Amino acid sequence: MEDLDQTFIQAPEHRADSNSIPNQPEEIPVIDLSRLNDPEDIQKRDEVNPAGYHDGEHTKNVRDWKEVFDIYFKDPMVMPSSTDPEDEGLRVVYNKWPQFPSDYREACQEYAGHAEKLAFRLLELISLSLGLPKERFHDYFKEQMSFFRINRYPPCPRPDLALGVGHHKDADVISLLAQDDVGGLQISRRSDGVWFPIRPVPNALVINIGNCMEVWTNDKYWSAEHRVVVNSTRERYSIPFFLLPSHDVEVKPLEELLSPENPPRYKGYKYGKFYVSRNRSDFKKLEIQNIQIDDFKVVT
Ligand code: OGA
Ligand code: NI
Repeated sequence: MEDLDQTFIQAPEHRADSNSIPNQPEEIPVIDLSRLNDPEDIQKRDEVNPAGYHDGEHTKNVRDWKEVFDIYFKDPMVMPSSTDPEDEGLRVVYNKWPQFPSDYREACQEYAGHAEKLAFRLLELISLSLGLPKERFHDYFKEQMSFFRINRYPPCPRPDLALGVGHHKDADVISLLAQDDVGGLQISRRSDGVWFPIRPVPNALVINIGNCMEVWTNDKYWSAEHRVVVNSTRERYSIPFFLLPSHDVEVKPLEELLSPENPPRYKGYKYGKFYVSRNRSDFKKLEIQNIQIDDFKVVT
């Protein structure tokens, strides 16, 4: 201390070596402001870019009792920039990765890689089951919009009043759902609409058929209505991987499966436009029922 002028000397309790640890704790995030000029990047998650964290999702105009984190399989991903059928504009959207946990991104990417491979194997089996070549569907996925979601359903004080996810059909091709052992997924029986639980099976995934498969196969494969009930004591996690086609795919019944006895039951629709229209209602309560696959049913 002999060389330092008295005027610089801190009181002992304020000195650098008092009450300190050598390394920065992990919780200190680095906030990257470099993309602040991009309006898309300012929000956390919204209907324009649904990637990332969100707890305001609505199904059929009622808010779901859950938190989600959405991750695109392709990063960046291309999607239509508006719901207007005349507008051919496209938007490039990116995943939104949190700083911590530091291995989150890698773990998610690894999971998505395996899930997508499995989804394609199932797709090929479905194709063979229809008497079609194994690769019949492959061209529809060149710019696939697939994504996966980490769902957390917190304990709910009134499980009698709210649902984790309201009744719906998945709007994709097929979904692969991983879940913990809590349970809560219910499915509506096709014959009478009665709801019953899907018991979690250890190390197994729940496979759901989505709207696209229903349309492609002219209702031969059927998309089941399902929902998630919550409970007042245990939180629940589930991770669905949604296999989605490219935005520019016109989804319509496959010609090979049609005949005079089996005329098309659906009009075609552009997948990307359907997807962005659906997203509009996922984020807020709309005054009207949002677009549903039945809107494309051919009236007979
Ligand atoms: C969904 C869904 C079921 C579940 O996210 O579309 O149906 O068990 N999830 O979390
Ligand atoms: Ni679902």
